[in-house]
Amino acid sequence: MNLDELMSKHLSRYFDGSKSIPEETFQQLLRFLRSAPTSTNIQPNHFYVLATREGKERLAANLGERFQDNAEKILNASHTIIFTTRADVPEHHLEAVFAKERADGRFPDQTKQERWESMTRDFVNLRNYTYKDTYHWMEKQTYMVMGLTMMAAAELGVEAMPLEGFDPVTVDKAFKIRESGHTTTVLLALGYPDLEKQYKTPVSRFEPDRLFTFA
Ligand SMILES: Cc1cc2nc3c(=O)[nH]c(=O)nc-3n(C[C@H](O)[C@H](O)[C@H](O)COP(=O)(O)O)c2cc1C
Repeated sequence: MNLDELMSKHLSRYFDGSKSIPEETFQQLLRFLRSAPTSTNIQPNHFYVLATREGKERLAANLGERFQDNAEKILNASHTIIFTTRADVPEHHLEAVFAKERADGRFPDQTKQERWESMTRDFVNLRNYTYKDTYHWMEKQTYMVMGLTMMAAAELGVEAMPLEGFDPVTVDKAFKIRESGHTTTVLLALGYPDLEKQYKTPVSRFEPDRLFTFA
């Protein structure tokens, strides 16, 4: 990954529809995505991976009327991932996280695992009853997972385009996402850029003195 190149280029809005991400590269990206950390290891996500024309067409047709300009981006992408987030944290989800941690041998002994589980329950209660921001907290995890996936894609020479332009009601319905207790947070289109449509102009960001305070 060339960081200088990355920081001076626009996000690719248009993909070359004739190019597909090689299967092994894509599988590596999914392995990386699966490994991304989340606060208290809450793992609030389910990912709908659209690798077929049919899947991408279903998403493109359900973006909602005002977001139609994103349809072409999705159709020409090699793959698109729908990042969904749990709407809440039911007991069965916490039990599933703890059971997996135990099976994977995450902690060196049972006492440490139990202390961790108690700490996690306290933290989730804090989000539920004190901060009252459980869903917002989990969506922040989703965005971090997406950001890491974008960096991993860059490392693999794949362009990644996040899309917030969609109606979550129609997307959730099209893929029956709410049936599993999740809702759509953000989309990530992946592929190779259409070089003719790529902007060559400078990217526009605030100057460092507006962004950084050194103390
Ligand atoms: C989280 C996120 C969601 C975005 N959603 C869309 C989108 O739905 N449609 C679109 O055309 N661009 C979308 N963009 C692109 C931004 O508008 C673009 O990156 C920003 O204006 C900066 O432009 P640049 O990448 O050309 O420097 C999104 C970018 C981010 C980071």
